[in-house]
Amino acid sequence: MRVLVIGSGAREHTLCWAFSRSPKLSQLYCAPGNGGTAAIAENIPLDPMDFAACADWAERHAIDLTVIGPEDPLSGGIVDVFAARGLPVFGPTAAAARIEGSKLWAKALLERAGVPTAAAVRFSDHEAAAAWAERRAADGGAFPVVVKADGLAAGKGVFICHNQRETQHALEVLMLERTLGAAGASVLIEEFMEGVELSLFALTDGERVVLLAPACDYKRAYDRDEGPNTGGMGAYSPPKFATPELLAAIERDILRPTIAALAADGSPFRGLLYAGLMITAEGPKVVEFNCRFGDPETQVVLPRLQSDLLELCAAVAAGRLDTVAPPVWSAEATCGVVVASGGYPGPYAKGKPISGLDMLDEDILVFHAGTARAADGRLVTSGGRALTLVAHGASVIAARERVYANIARIHFEGARWRRDIGAREA
Ligand code: AMP
Ligand code: GLY
Repeated sequence: MRVLVIGSGAREHTLCWAFSRSPKLSQLYCAPGNGGTAAIAENIPLDPMDFAACADWAERHAIDLTVIGPEDPLSGGIVDVFAARGLPVFGPTAAAARIEGSKLWAKALLERAGVPTAAAVRFSDHEAAAAWAERRAADGGAFPVVVKADGLAAGKGVFICHNQRETQHALEVLMLERTLGAAGASVLIEEFMEGVELSLFALTDGERVVLLAPACDYKRAYDRDEGPNTGGMGAYSPPKFATPELLAAIERDILRPTIAALAADGSPFRGLLYAGLMITAEGPKVVEFNCRFGDPETQVVLPRLQSDLLELCAAVAAGRLDTVAPPVWSAEATCGVVVASGGYPGPYAKGKPISGLDMLDEDILVFHAGTARAADGRLVTSGGRALTLVAHGASVIAARERVYANIARIHFEGARWRRDIGAREA
């Protein structure tokens, strides 16, 4: 098969890596790709938001399957453009991608389907939202509450507010100052859920569902979950608390009803549905759904997959998930740590030469995100999250020890990483 992966992060590098192990693969392209995908695929300078150009290219190059990585082109309708031209594509339509692209729409869908999630009120008028927050404080209502922008915000649209003042501030930032533009015109205010977070990916063809291995993601910039939210600083798989019984309950009570509700709504979801869950004292509840593979969870989940990812994705795209065997997983655990540029998620320098990759133990996986080849051929940084290093081990703790033993061999000016990824599994 001739395969095109759209995107340029470590997630897309990992997808390319998994596809490159498939006996079904003949040619692999990545658009636009990064310094890591260049080693295993041909990078094609296409803009993922130029849907017509992507579809033209796929058609001209007889691509058998295009796999869309990021949420922006999915929400914008890249799959609709491919489908209208009869081009095989992995990912949800714009209508189905609303499960990530509109938190208000997603919340209404979950409520209709009776899927456990945080109770929420919604506002598209700042005055009404501010009055709600004032009333909540006056009535002695519980804080924190969680204020969420309706639209896509790359992790910047969620505010955990511990009192009325913080709530009013979040509402002002989103609804009046419009720091996120139209994404913050409407908001949800949610109940704060206590518990431990779990990321669970499901492949679905709109009807059938296949769970991938569970993972935990670390979103905050610094150790002990301090500092600002990021795109993700590390992950591991599998968490001990994700027992077969818990996963079965999530499939039964959360994933299946959500997939059925999307289909009943006239927007069946084909692709990878990512459930962000809070495991609370009352059981698992939805924090959010994403319409795509997660990053950095993909980097730790796919290396444990022993089945052919290309076969699975092609079956999803064809609407025939019933034709493939359920995925088989390695008993080994994985731990992945992101090497970030100093300053990330704030401003950071680019173009710093990266050294030490040739010093790593042989079985360490390195997935690139913000890297590029300079004119002189040297690998340099080009983004905030430069690399994810992933190690295997008999346990998460064993994998964690190996990843940290190797990560210290990597150098670039300002490089930093969290030191506590996977530590809670001890
Ligand atoms: P999201 O962008 O929706 O994934 O939210 C970012 C992070 O905020 C999540 O990973 C959670 O840690 C936290 N969060 C979001 N909603 C809630 C909630 N209702 N209760 C507790 N934490 C939440
Ligand atoms: N790891 C969080 C995300 O991919 O949205």
